[in-house]
Amino acid sequence: MPITTDGILPARQAAAYAQFDVVDDLVLPEGFTYEVIAVWGDRVGDTRFGYNNDYLSLVETENSQGYLTVNFEYISPIPWFQACEQIAGRNIPFTELQREIERPINAFTLDDGNPLKEKIRVVCKEALIDQGLGIIALQRGTDGKWSRRNGGAERRITGISGLEDRRYLGCTGPARAIFRKDSGRGYIDKLGERIIGTFANCAGGTTPWGTVLSCEENIQFQVPEGVYPDGSSFDPGMVPFTISPRELNGQANVFGLAGNKYGWVVEVDPANPGDNGVKHTWLGRYRHEAVAIRGVNGKPLAAYSGDDRTGGHLYKFVSREKIKDLTDKKNSSFFDNGALFAAKFFPDGSGRWIALTPDTPVDPDLPGSIAGNMLTLPLRPTGGAFRAETDADVANFKSRFRTLNDLYEGSAEEKQGAILIDAHQAANAAGATCTARPEDTDLAPDGSLYISFTSGSPSIDGGSDLRIFKGPGEITAHEYGFVMRLREDSDDPAALSFRWEMLTTGGEPADGGSGFANPDNLVVDTVGNVWMVTDIATDRQNRAAPVRKDSTGKALSQSLLSGLYGNSTMWFIPTAGPAAGQAYLFAIGPMECEFTGPFFSRDEQALFVSVQHPGEQNGKRIAGASESREFAMKTTEGTEFKQARRVPVGSNWPRKGMDDQPLSAVVAIYSPRKTFRSDQA
Ligand code: FEO
Ligand code: CA
Ligand code: CA
Repeated sequence: MPITTDGILPARQAAAYAQFDVVDDLVLPEGFTYEVIAVWGDRVGDTRFGYNNDYLSLVETENSQGYLTVNFEYISPIPWFQACEQIAGRNIPFTELQREIERPINAFTLDDGNPLKEKIRVVCKEALIDQGLGIIALQRGTDGKWSRRNGGAERRITGISGLEDRRYLGCTGPARAIFRKDSGRGYIDKLGERIIGTFANCAGGTTPWGTVLSCEENIQFQVPEGVYPDGSSFDPGMVPFTISPRELNGQANVFGLAGNKYGWVVEVDPANPGDNGVKHTWLGRYRHEAVAIRGVNGKPLAAYSGDDRTGGHLYKFVSREKIKDLTDKKNSSFFDNGALFAAKFFPDGSGRWIALTPDTPVDPDLPGSIAGNMLTLPLRPTGGAFRAETDADVANFKSRFRTLNDLYEGSAEEKQGAILIDAHQAANAAGATCTARPEDTDLAPDGSLYISFTSGSPSIDGGSDLRIFKGPGEITAHEYGFVMRLREDSDDPAALSFRWEMLTTGGEPADGGSGFANPDNLVVDTVGNVWMVTDIATDRQNRAAPVRKDSTGKALSQSLLSGLYGNSTMWFIPTAGPAAGQAYLFAIGPMECEFTGPFFSRDEQALFVSVQHPGEQNGKRIAGASESREFAMKTTEGTEFKQARRVPVGSNWPRKGMDDQPLSAVVAIYSPRKTFRSDQA
């Protein structure tokens, strides 16, 4: 798509962009190179490098060595099914199960000797082994390039850690009071504070003291997300096992995992081989995309995280204690005590943090200001949530409940625990702003927090507040996303108020957008430039868009035009100087993938990136298959022209040979100038 930063004059854009051949590779500017660091199936610890590598964090030690912690988010059924037997080295009966099971099945209630249950266990085990996180040891060679070495602390923490090996994860904070209960309204797993596994590990963060935080995001496909007023879980049968060529859900059902133990932030010390991870419940339970830690000596610690759901909130945890030594590994105890806040944004660029405590008043926003005219609120006394669609629904709710205390049950500690477990519904009740799906949260050296909001379009989960998340010149929901900058008042991590502004907005340049769609993970370099990757849903990537209007003359929705934006991409965005907020295209990903996890080495000579699920839509590319598709493009000045685009079908990345299986992989990118470090101007 022609963009204002591509150096091509508007009058020449139509000719320059009339024909485009998409390439099934990681495409970089001239002189830049990439090298594969690790691939799905590589040996790690007692098992393998997982699937859908996401967050990356290189914690460097000494002698040019370091530990790369890698998240593994989910499995993409089509390419995963194609290769998982070969990768796992065993028979995995997914084809049989697809034949035998026609509808969702509550495998938890099947008898243990039932052969069907055993087959489901085998499939779910392999899928959950491919999730969680992994730690691999790296070494920097004399040529400046990083590669794997054999290191003692290399290991995996998977979706089933603890199930058979007693390597449980631990937990801190008030939700422990709920986990310890042996009876409640809902399902209790009787494991107390012990937790089996971590899965749906999306992005994360790195602490100043050298531990890594991994965020559990879309848990709702594997375990029930809703809870009772006492914080106990809905029955495992609420998310039954489901299998089809394009779907493998309810992976935790057969194991009876309790939903309230997932959706947290997990801390792990990569250098400590005995550390299986700890879930910090003060940070709240929701669909965490990522987390950013702000540590300033003499101040409390702040942890920012977004809930990547339509209408999800931005949150901040503030520790009770103040920091004395930023690099002290004992700082992990800062997560033991504090308070969780959710953000309320005002249209004038101000905002405040609402504490999620029992004495917080119930004061929800009204559905009329939200895309899709709906928000969810805690359903009482039943548990879970209901859809509030009118002002009267909200007024009725407010008349029944005065504070969050009235919505949750148990002792004071249990109520705080239940609020944290049910953070999204509690924050809706407290009036936190429904946002446009917050993805990454990243801090710049000057203390600015950058937040990518991937899409303002509403869904059954809710919608974004249209007073805040406005596209250029639009009054309806903006599909293509935003990157926001937030500054705490008085630059204080513990401030109760802030200022916000949009740094850049997705969309077509002729409409005032920057030329990208659906911003996702961010990394900020040492001079404060933002590097951003996009996540356009795979089924929309390069989807033909030959016209902009339907047969009745009505303009097509933004989501129907998502195909204009091509593959997942990576962008460079200065945040100061004359080019502040302008987006420069840096990289284009292989077919049907999502870029995730960008992370710089300390010297900024290597940029690590994850490439998730190449071939997610069509699997292995066979015999170099490709299609020609037509797109109704616009120049940056709005003149329409046709683009003929050659689109490979499926992927062979990263091996790139004819008919090679596509594999998720982590790469390191190197600059011809040896460093990514640059002057802001
Ligand atoms: Fe896992 Fe919100 O991306
Ligand atoms: Ca993401
Ligand atoms: Ca995403």
